[in-house]
Amino acid sequence: MDFKFTQQPLEKIPVDLVFATSFEKEGLRGPDGGIVFDKYLDGNLSRLMQDQNFEGKEGEILCVPTFQKIKPKYVLVAGLGPQKDFSAESIRRLGGRICQEANRLRARSAGGILETGGIKGVPPEARLRAFVEGCGLAAYQFIRFKTKEDKKKKNTLQTVWFYGRGKTARLQKASEEAQAIVGGVELARDLTNLPPNHLTPSVLGRQALALAKKHKNISVTVLGAAEILKQKMGALLAVAQGSATPPAFIHLKYNPSGKPKTKVALIGKGITFDSGGLNIKTREQELMKMDMAGAAAVLGAFDALARVQPKVAVEGFIPAAENMPAGNAYRPSDILTTRSGKTVEIVNTDAEGRLALADALDFACESKPTYMIDMATLTGGTAYAVGELVTSVLGNDKRLTARLLAAGKKAGEPAWELPIVQDYKKGYLKGPADLKNSGSGTKASTISGALFLEEFVQNNKWVHMDIASTAWADEPTSYHPMVGATGTPVRTLIYFLMDL
Ligand code: BES
Ligand code: MN
Ligand code: ZN
Repeated sequence: MDFKFTQQPLEKIPVDLVFATSFEKEGLRGPDGGIVFDKYLDGNLSRLMQDQNFEGKEGEILCVPTFQKIKPKYVLVAGLGPQKDFSAESIRRLGGRICQEANRLRARSAGGILETGGIKGVPPEARLRAFVEGCGLAAYQFIRFKTKEDKKKKNTLQTVWFYGRGKTARLQKASEEAQAIVGGVELARDLTNLPPNHLTPSVLGRQALALAKKHKNISVTVLGAAEILKQKMGALLAVAQGSATPPAFIHLKYNPSGKPKTKVALIGKGITFDSGGLNIKTREQELMKMDMAGAAAVLGAFDALARVQPKVAVEGFIPAAENMPAGNAYRPSDILTTRSGKTVEIVNTDAEGRLALADALDFACESKPTYMIDMATLTGGTAYAVGELVTSVLGNDKRLTARLLAAGKKAGEPAWELPIVQDYKKGYLKGPADLKNSGSGTKASTISGALFLEEFVQNNKWVHMDIASTAWADEPTSYHPMVGATGTPVRTLIYFLMDL
């Protein structure tokens, strides 16, 4: 999709639709408003809003044909909700709804007004950024497996024009960064939506290599089974050993221009399918193609990073494997030696993510990162703790955690900190090995999972995001138009890295 700027009033441009906004109960006086369109339509816009009881609630949308009074064919008025709740997220959602409505109308072009001033502390560049994100993300489709043309209905919206007197260079930059983020989220969504027969660990590796080919500032190495063995990644190998498809370990580097002061390690769980192993899952197994959403977020973030180009060094680490039951699968009661040297007794083969991550975290420590961030669909428990719209965050450094939470807020990806209660570690410490891979019982599984990972981060500043409930949406929203992978938390990562 293209986002362009014009100095020509929108009523004179032959776009298919123009859009205006309304705060709840405030009519067309809202931001980036539509009073001008109302004037050109002889007051019919505000009249219709009254007739139809249009209140400006969030999600409300009114579509009015212009019958050639002005060049655009339709005016859309979209509700923003109460003025007191306004934030960049309101505009992100607006962008999503305009995109979906435009495609429903089979519109190819749209236009909106972008005023120069700030609105409730949100400057025009931030509003534009949010709009482009929302609009771009709402255009996401996953139709590659549809063979019938009518089911493949492609989006029509191609160009969105913004009219205003803002400084075009700054707006252009905001728009480009937002589009880079959208591209990264799309990649993460695509990879996560792919089924496990199409996305194996080696395919994930090839996707990473493709990123290095696409971007000069990214380099990638992919380790195969033999090299993983040489690295002594006993935990990752154990998870993979019951599968007919071999594991992969992906190492990415983003090299910024200049001398960066900070290095961030991003580690993503890459279980391409989690059957549970011998502790086979009895429910929701068909959802477990999404168990590599953390890995997808790392790859998506790298794709965006290469274009946004923040001045920070970033390395990515992805342990990729498939967790299957088989005659040669790892067993409950097996004792593994992890790369770190610590031994782990398996009590549940379904607690496989932390094993794969243990070796990846240990490997990542060698890059001497300033901060480590891991993303994993680690525990079903996070859905009970904070629900499907919030990511659980746990870490060992208050400032780092606070920064990540702030980035999530800015990005419109809510996250909440859970306490990393050390006393819960007791459950891991019994038995014949250094650790068990699961504490006893199912309570506070999200915290227990984080505590296990913490064993492998050495003295580094580290934060863990449990995205098991947020990486997949069961319901469409304004800028996520379908059931499926959300691409969480690519946006949070990029906002975090941009603000370092
Ligand atoms: N991949 C699952 C977690 C998951 C559950 C992701 C639901 C997405 C939706 C993970 O490997 C797992 O099985 N976790 C177990 C851990 C337990 C065995 C300690 C869980 O959460 O039940
Ligand atoms: Mn599992
Ligand atoms: Zn899993």
